[in-house]
Amino acid sequence: MSGTFNTVIQLIYVAAASCFVLGLHLMNNPATARRGNQVSVAGMIAAIAATGALVIHGGLIDATGWIVIAAGVLVGGGLGLYTARTVKMTAMPQLVSIFNAVGGGAAALVAIRDFMTIGSGIGASTSVPTLLDVIIGSVTFSGSIIAAGKLQGVITSAPVSFPGARIVNMLLAVIAVGFGAYVIASPNMIGLGVVIAAALIFGVSMVMPIGGADMPVVISLLNAFTGTAVAMAGFVINNTALIIAGALVGASGGILTKLMADAMNRSIGNIMIGGFGQGDAIVAAAGVAGAGVQSIAADDAAIQLAYASKVIIVPGYGLAAAQAQHEVAALADLLESRGVDVSYAIHPVAGRMPGHMNVLLAEANVPYPLLKEMDEINPEFGRTDVALVIGANDVTNPAARRAGTAISGMPILDVDAAKSIIVIKRSMGHGYAGIDNELYTNPKTSMFFADAKKGLAQLTASVKTLVG
Ligand code: TAP
Repeated sequence: MSGTFNTVIQLIYVAAASCFVLGLHLMNNPATARRGNQVSVAGMIAAIAATGALVIHGGLIDATGWIVIAAGVLVGGGLGLYTARTVKMTAMPQLVSIFNAVGGGAAALVAIRDFMTIGSGIGASTSVPTLLDVIIGSVTFSGSIIAAGKLQGVITSAPVSFPGARIVNMLLAVIAVGFGAYVIASPNMIGLGVVIAAALIFGVSMVMPIGGADMPVVISLLNAFTGTAVAMAGFVINNTALIIAGALVGASGGILTKLMADAMNRSIGNIMIGGFGQGDAIVAAAGVAGAGVQSIAADDAAIQLAYASKVIIVPGYGLAAAQAQHEVAALADLLESRGVDVSYAIHPVAGRMPGHMNVLLAEANVPYPLLKEMDEINPEFGRTDVALVIGANDVTNPAARRAGTAISGMPILDVDAAKSIIVIKRSMGHGYAGIDNELYTNPKTSMFFADAKKGLAQLTASVKTLVG
């Protein structure tokens, strides 16, 4: 009977894992992404229910245990639901970071609890994943809290470091792994305490030196760590669903990290031992602000747009901050109705989270084929009459092409190749990386100083007036 029961539970786990894989696959495409989410949620509910049944069947916890679980589900689930529903799109990276911290911390606690219960009699097969879980989970927990603080502006977003920081980081890594090996050979709580402390400090010292435009890669890396820690927790408590779900998060997070690091010309290895972004002291590009800036009014900008044959719209964080997605879609529709060839240039790290611009523009029903990725759109700027940059800054900054700036080496949208450039933003203010943008003093560039939402509404009205 017990054998049949366990088989059924394992089959449910396999079904749940299939849902996760299918869900991820469906998320590949905006048209099916929502369904992908639903399928994954169904898999997760099945896995949780099966685990509940397993616990009841085995009589593994008493009444107090159930009260603690119910309280955790109510408080944790309630908070998660509330924050996920109310969070502003622009604060999503902080939320993801907090979720990473919670996931990593929970995984580490599973291993610590396991170690405390059976610590003295464990074999290598259990103890290696246990220690890896403790180390990766602790690094993720403290690193993610620092990352969320930086993104929220509670901790300075500038790189914070000191001479020899890399050596300290490497030393911390050696202590965590060295003591981990010692604890495996001779299980003891003091040794485990040293491992936890070294891993927690490593998390802090790994993220503190990272700043400016490099934060997204770190968030993604920490997300991959969370998945890996959870997979290790699955080995610790011998739970197949946890192993598979964790491995999927770890692998997909790892792939996303690699893609983003490549898009920003950064090395993942460098993030881990610190100093990532350190060499890129934030240097203002000389003599850019103020002098040499041409401003333009809505009417003149409208003339350029209405009589262009090809326009590329370059959205950035300011479009999201202004919630101007519907206004940009309305302007694009109007131009298209006049026969203008309109497309959108999507930089992989425009905005504040992966896919930020895609999500934002999908909300305004912008047809997906109009959204062109950086490699696809860059060759088109040379044939473009007007590049309309809306609240984008760092992802268009030609300073990235030379050494010594906060964004050096980051591939950018080649907006400056267009015949004419119109930039909508409120001021000469900096973007996320905190440096001046040389594009704004380019003789081909006209600055339309306005809030994106209001500016776009004015542009649309002016184009309508112009063309009757
Ligand atoms: P940013 O370089 O951050 O520039 C955004 C610009 O929007 C600002 O210069 C600001 O100028 C303007 N702005 C703000 N509110 C506005 C409003 N209401 N109306 C019009 N303009 C407004 O944006 P980006 O070009 O999208 O680059 C993204 C940056 O964020 C990159 O450095 C990237 O690495 C970093 N980052 C990305 C992510 C991900 S995963 N996408 C996550 C974290 C950080 P004014 O104040 O003058 O208006």
